[in-house]
Amino acid sequence: MVGEIRLGDNLPILRGLPDGSVDLVYTDPPFNTGTTQRRTRLKTTAAADGDRVGFGGRRYGTVAVGSLGFADLFDDYLAFLEPRLRELHRVLAPHGTLYLHLDQREVHYAKVLLDAIFGRDRFLNEIVWAYDYGGRSQRRWPAKHDTILVYVKDPARYVFDRDAVDRIPYMAPGLVGPEKAARGKLPTDVWWQTIVPTGGAERTGYPTQKPVAIVRRIVAASSRPGGVVLDCFAGSGTTGAACLALGRRFLLIDDNPQALRVMARRFAGVADIAWRGFDPGPGASDPADATYPLQPASDMLGSNPSDADGASARPEQPVPTAGPREDTMSSTSTQPDIDDVEVGAEIPEGYRDLLESKALAHVATIGPDGAPQNNPVWFGTQGDRIVFSQTTQRQKYRNLQRDPRIALSIVDPTNDYRYLEIRGVVERIDPDPDNAFINAMAKKYLDQDVYPFHQPGDERVVVVVRPEHTSQMG
Ligand SMILES: C[S@@+](CC[C@H](N)C(=O)[O-])C[C@H]1O[C@@H](n2cnc3c(N)ncnc32)[C@H](O)[C@@H]1O
Repeated sequence: MVGEIRLGDNLPILRGLPDGSVDLVYTDPPFNTGTTQRRTRLKTTAAADGDRVGFGGRRYGTVAVGSLGFADLFDDYLAFLEPRLRELHRVLAPHGTLYLHLDQREVHYAKVLLDAIFGRDRFLNEIVWAYDYGGRSQRRWPAKHDTILVYVKDPARYVFDRDAVDRIPYMAPGLVGPEKAARGKLPTDVWWQTIVPTGGAERTGYPTQKPVAIVRRIVAASSRPGGVVLDCFAGSGTTGAACLALGRRFLLIDDNPQALRVMARRFAGVADIAWRGFDPGPGASDPADATYPLQPASDMLGSNPSDADGASARPEQPVPTAGPREDTMSSTSTQPDIDDVEVGAEIPEGYRDLLESKALAHVATIGPDGAPQNNPVWFGTQGDRIVFSQTTQRQKYRNLQRDPRIALSIVDPTNDYRYLEIRGVVERIDPDPDNAFINAMAKKYLDQDVYPFHQPGDERVVVVVRPEHTSQMG
């Protein structure tokens, strides 16, 4: 078998893998996601002074980032990441290496976490992937790199094959002589690599897709032919593509049916891939329609013996919710299509009253032919995010599946010439199975407890928008 691809939350799947069964992990987790966080954020909305999810377990309680000034977002994020990193450490073979791909917002906190899990002496490298694409903020240094933290399980045993690494041109080839110039040089820990170009053959359409050249270099250097490479936040399957090219086996996990659909297209025609919890056949169906069982064991790696008798307290693999999600798409800063962004722009204090008002938000999305589409919606806030309800049948929803960019404007109901404009990206789309959010909107706008316009068959979701640029007038 060349590889296995599984749909589902990676935590219970990782817990089912045997100790030391993986040669290399490359993984690129989303920023700001995870069920813990989703639940917390919704709860926070319900009660303004809502609960905080604490940072880490007892062992890390003293880490300085747990201070009062530390945003809930990071508390939640690290609480999401920590158990997964612990499992990754456990499943790595003694000669194994972990590459954790992050960006400048969370890498420092993850470093502290990994030092605690692996040990500081297991830290091998910090790789900077530098790229240059898209707009430039006018108000700070444009952020144009991601960071990949590298940890080894055992500093005396890890695999690192420098001869297998692709070489790069010398900056001044004239100074090194023709032979050396022709051979090129080994890359350092700063890797210049363009993002996956829009419209290029490599592009799958998955918003956070990373260049295969980056993952290839990692796989070539830190695993042996035939070894097993794990990516538990697999997205479009870039790790699988690198493994196929280099003769490694792979285990890819993602909990987003859209990611599996993209992988099904990307690996169409590749025989001998085992799919778990997802039918990769023509039309790549939603898991909700599937009749095949989700299997707890991995064909490639076997299962964790401690789970074999089913007595483990660990959660079972959940049956995924139906329908596509966008919630985990915007992880690192390599969103290629966003021009002129000020990432994480704050809503100006003097205009926050508009967010509390009953004004509608006019929301523009981008249609399939590139044409803008605009209409008014009820909206609310979750912390510094703008949220609005949507049914999965609407064009706007489909637009956001394709392109998460969004622009919205809110006009002061008492003064037509005072408004706030927000540009940003859809950070995630949460299910709203009980209509809790749309009912809260009915309360805000109509003072009714239950949304009165519900149609049979409507499936509601909550679209969460991260502002990246704001402007205002009046
Ligand atoms: C940044 S993307 C990975 C992109 C990937 N490196 C690529 O090149 O396409 C992160 C992925 O993690 C997935 N994800 C988020 N939470 C997850 C979880 N708990 N279990 C499994 N996958 C998850 C998301 O669906 C998303 O596809």
